[in-house]
Amino acid sequence: MKQLRKAGGTKVRTGQSLRTNAEGAIWGTGDISGATMLLDAEGMKVPHPIPYQGSKRNLAIQILAYFPDHIDNLIEPFAGSGAITLAAAVRGLAEGYHLNDLNAPLIELWRMIIEEPQKLAKQYERIWRDQHDDRREYYSRIRNEFNQTRRPHHFLYLLARCVKASVRYNSKGEFNQSPDKRRMGALPTTMCDHILGASHLLNGKTKCTSEDYKSLVKRAQPEDFIYMDPPYQGVCGDRDPRYLKGVLFDEFVEALCDLNARDISYIVSYDGRTGDKVHGRTLPPSLQLRHIELAAGRSSQETLLGRSAVTYESLYLSPALEKRLQTCRRNTKPTDGQLVLLEAGN
Ligand SMILES: C[S@@+](CC[C@H](N)C(=O)[O-])C[C@H]1O[C@@H](n2cnc3c(N)ncnc32)[C@H](O)[C@@H]1O
Repeated sequence: MKQLRKAGGTKVRTGQSLRTNAEGAIWGTGDISGATMLLDAEGMKVPHPIPYQGSKRNLAIQILAYFPDHIDNLIEPFAGSGAITLAAAVRGLAEGYHLNDLNAPLIELWRMIIEEPQKLAKQYERIWRDQHDDRREYYSRIRNEFNQTRRPHHFLYLLARCVKASVRYNSKGEFNQSPDKRRMGALPTTMCDHILGASHLLNGKTKCTSEDYKSLVKRAQPEDFIYMDPPYQGVCGDRDPRYLKGVLFDEFVEALCDLNARDISYIVSYDGRTGDKVHGRTLPPSLQLRHIELAAGRSSQETLLGRSAVTYESLYLSPALEKRLQTCRRNTKPTDGQLVLLEAGN
């Protein structure tokens, strides 16, 4: 059962009942009982099983404020840790979900989180408990094993322990990120809560694929809704080791142009600025997108340098979405000075 709840000036749906999932754990839609899970700013427990650099977890509520009321299928072509999908699923915003990422081991991890959560949680616990004698050497061993077998629980452990939870591959496609000696990785009980919570929210209604975003968005239909968070332009390019492949600006603009021509609703998160310094190129006015800036706080680098410039992340709303929002009751006005609206195309 669903109801509308007023939160932070935005009406969001929230589920009601507690259910027992296939593997026996008790989770409630919209009120997940995972003891170790933190509440978000709207008081919702949102699971986050995958630590991931660039996760939109902290901006999710601001981004969801621009989602249409009814979504048949929410597609994330650049899913990463799926922060937006999870935040939407907790609120019952879509009937179905589609997680896609070019990084195939990441998508295998998602499949296992969703379909075999208990098994994955046990595997993570085993690997985590075995790490204590020589953690650095142990990390290298797991990384070697992952590079040979691509097993999802190895990848989860590496993401939990590596520097900045940042995915990095060498030219041979081997994961080569170093361990962060201060990161032990989430406690098995915490990880278990997050894995089971995500599985409960997504099992039975989520498709997982690993392909280039261009082929995926070509198949999108007008009833779908796409949230796109491509890699930062600064880290794009074929030679960048952080991702398997970059997203070229012109190709990206062309894909958006095609979505516009087919009347498909989408939101793009695309770089932004710190103070006056703009990161990357802005999307062109010809796409007729509404450009919004989300205050993302002070960057750690700015803080280290003793500067106070705030970072704003850019959000672009498609023309088809704008039309859809005009017929929705949901409030998409800035709240608490968090959002700054700019003219389209700026
Ligand atoms: C900024 S991250 C997305 C973060 C995500 N929004 C989250 O909350 O965790 C960008 C993702 O795009 C993926 N990616 C890079 N190039 C891609 C492509 N051409 N097609 C599909 N995914 C791609 C990367 O593997 C990475 O996971």
